[in-house]
Amino acid sequence: MKIFLDTANLDEIRKGADWGIVDGVTTNPSLIAKEGRPIEEQVARICDIIDGDISAEVIATEAKDMIPEGLKLAKIHKNIVVKLPLTRDGIKACCALSKDGIRINVTLCFQPAQAMLAAKAGAYIISPFVGRIDDMGMPGIDLIEQIVTIYNNYGYKTQVLAASLRTPNHVIESALLGAHIGTMPFKTLDMLFNHPLTDKGLEQFLKDHNKAFQNG
Ligand code: G3P
Repeated sequence: MKIFLDTANLDEIRKGADWGIVDGVTTNPSLIAKEGRPIEEQVARICDIIDGDISAEVIATEAKDMIPEGLKLAKIHKNIVVKLPLTRDGIKACCALSKDGIRINVTLCFQPAQAMLAAKAGAYIISPFVGRIDDMGMPGIDLIEQIVTIYNNYGYKTQVLAASLRTPNHVIESALLGAHIGTMPFKTLDMLFNHPLTDKGLEQFLKDHNKAFQNG
């Protein structure tokens, strides 16, 4: 499974890039707003750090405006994937832009029929939000299973990007279910490293080494 960072913060992206395990970045208008720079500038900087798919979302809500905005975003860098919301206009714009060869990430997916529409519209990526469904008291991970099954049944090429992953367990379950990509905040990525037995084991290895070779 590819690992994407779900942030527009350059320090976090640099730290992830430094570990060598970040395959791409997803942003949304809320994440861009936190950084205080216009989207074109901020995503261009992100493209300079990570050589992988970088999602940049449109603000327009009508297809006639989403299409030129999407074309403009796609021109920023070859790695830009244009993000469109899963609305009637978003799907219409997805059809038009995909036919033009622009790669589209359809976002805000909360049920499997929406994912089917995105695949039929030629989306490059579908983004189901696991954590936000959990927030409503339902198992968000089931959505990943349903989408993966439907896409496999019909051979849809659209990649499943499990989004809104808040815990290591969300990441593990998404990978077990065959999601192509998992996008997560830096905090979740950082948590993936942790296990108390790793710390304990390393401490013991070093203690044994020091005892054998440094005390004689
Ligand atoms: O970028 C979309 C998604 O990953 C948002 O996550 O945690 O705000 O639900 P969250």
